[in-house]
Amino acid sequence: MTNKTFYITTPIYYPSGSPHIGTCYTTVACDSIARYKRMQGYDVMFLTGTDEHGQKIEEKARESKVTPKQYVDEIAKIFKRLWKTMNISYDRYIRTTDDYHVEAIQKIFKELYDRGYIYKGEYKGKYCTPCESFWTESQLDENGCCPECHREVTQASEEAYFFKMSPFAKRIEKLLTETDYLRPKSRAREIVNNFIKPGLEDLCVSRTSFSWGIPVTFDTKHVVYVWVDALFNYCTALGFENSRYNDYDKYWPADVHMVAKDIMRFHAVIWPAMLMALDMPLPKHLAVHGWITFNGQKMSKSMGNVVDPFILSERYGADAIRYHILREMALGADSSFSNEIMINRINSDLANGLGNLVSRTVAMADKYFGATLPTYREAGEFDDELIAKATALRNKVDEFIDNTQINNALAEIFRVISRANKYIDETTPWILGKDESKKARLASVLYNLLETIRITTTLLSCFMPAEMPKIWEQIGASADDVTYDAAGRFGVLPLDVTVHRGDIIFPRIDVEKEIDELNAIIGNQSDDTGSTVGFEPEKLREEITIDDFAKADLRVALVTKCEKIKRSKKLLCLQLDDGMGGRQVVSGIAEWYKPEDLVGKKVMIVANLKPVKLCGVESNGMICAADMPDGTCKVIHPDDALPNGSRVR
Ligand code: MSP
Repeated sequence: MTNKTFYITTPIYYPSGSPHIGTCYTTVACDSIARYKRMQGYDVMFLTGTDEHGQKIEEKARESKVTPKQYVDEIAKIFKRLWKTMNISYDRYIRTTDDYHVEAIQKIFKELYDRGYIYKGEYKGKYCTPCESFWTESQLDENGCCPECHREVTQASEEAYFFKMSPFAKRIEKLLTETDYLRPKSRAREIVNNFIKPGLEDLCVSRTSFSWGIPVTFDTKHVVYVWVDALFNYCTALGFENSRYNDYDKYWPADVHMVAKDIMRFHAVIWPAMLMALDMPLPKHLAVHGWITFNGQKMSKSMGNVVDPFILSERYGADAIRYHILREMALGADSSFSNEIMINRINSDLANGLGNLVSRTVAMADKYFGATLPTYREAGEFDDELIAKATALRNKVDEFIDNTQINNALAEIFRVISRANKYIDETTPWILGKDESKKARLASVLYNLLETIRITTTLLSCFMPAEMPKIWEQIGASADDVTYDAAGRFGVLPLDVTVHRGDIIFPRIDVEKEIDELNAIIGNQSDDTGSTVGFEPEKLREEITIDDFAKADLRVALVTKCEKIKRSKKLLCLQLDDGMGGRQVVSGIAEWYKPEDLVGKKVMIVANLKPVKLCGVESNGMICAADMPDGTCKVIHPDDALPNGSRVR
């Protein structure tokens, strides 16, 4: 381990709403950079967490009839499950309700007050609760709504503490225009023109109209404004103003804070101002990315695409999802999401590009040399270019990572993968293999391919950590062959390397069939798996008539047999006695039910649903189940006395 440190942070997430693929972007991007830096030998601190105070959470908990703490406890669990599913290697997880953070925020607030940067006044203006943002009349959009999310704002008028922003305006402008703090630079100009040039207004930093927050120690009817509480997480998680950790001197200032554009203003203006007020060093970089959008809007659930990261990673693997979102998003710009674009990207880059390169190379080494290459060699045309490209790759990727340009790093790696596939076509190993006198040349070609695979997959393992070790196994690479150092050199694998044929790493997806299956899931969204977050019951759907309801044929049935579907962790296949000759139904409940839990039980089914295939297994209808507050679900069991096939009305 070197003494070089690297500190990277995601925003801390509000525990509200269902996580979707857009929620994952920042965390997956930070994880990839953290892994890359660890591979380079840095001592990395990668922080993420949940932002658990504020009016919005207090209101949601009230609606759900639980305490705010019960509410956030449940949701923090769901975030942790999400990050596990996505293979996120965070080093520390902060919850702003943790005692040490609360204690530190109280000290920080008092210190800002003692230094004369916080004063008491009265707040009169507009407040957007979903964004937890204060706005003046002139900042509202053309409909008088929040300029950020365009939802209704409320009139707020209350005694409040304010933070003086104006002393820092000049320094912040310099930070944004004359340094490399904010990336990309175009966004820095936007902030300066919209917020600094018109004159920085003092910031309201306490609230009295609700109580779910950190109390101000010297005036306890006030709670600290949630953004002040939240921003300082980046320091308190290291032990700043608390004794829980002792890493502040080691890691602060952060190397990279990564955020999406909607919260750029807080990180580009308010955060540096507060750090300046405390004479603290400023973070080195703020990397701002756009949104994953659908039809031009920020992503949310129920938009005609399957966006649930639990469902998507179950179907394609977390690596494929990670790759797709990282590859699509250029720093600073939005990226539009659709299931079809994602499947095509997985097919073209991962199945046809990387997967094909690995399976062809390993299969040929196996076929022509019985898996172990001979040690004789013969160089030939096309070798130099491939070797030069593969050898130069690591340094190019280093540069892109240092500039937080992950999509460019991936594009560069995949250019080398395409070059290697082209090298196969140019060198025609299948022709060389027919001619005994060309065996030395064939050995060189296969060795060059194995080396290119080794280098590219070593670098890719930071972005796709689950699948690359399987490729290393196939190409006969040991742990020493897939280090950062080895990724910068060509000719690392032993000359007589032995390959091991294995499973296809990224199988090709049948686009049409897959879209049909995804459409079936969209139709069943309320019955989907793991996507319902929190205690908030889903909003009532639009009103229907009794005739509309009569179209749904709900019946009682008995489970006679039930088994797991091999290719899926979530699906069970149930045989039912429905009083009409029997039927088979596939249901996404395997995470919560063992097959034997259901056999012999009565269930309620939607019996006239159009049949679909799920994971290749035909499903005739749907088992009715209801959401639980923790995101799991429970099957509805009708009374045992009801005969099979009886209609539910
Ligand atoms: N709690 C604040 C952050 C405080 S940091 C001191 C917050 N939380 S959030 O849960 O609403 O958002 C967390 C991050 O996810 C933000 O950067 C937000 O912009 C990002 N994203 C949420 N939806 C997104 C997309 N559809 N696309 C990309 N990023 C998205 O803001």
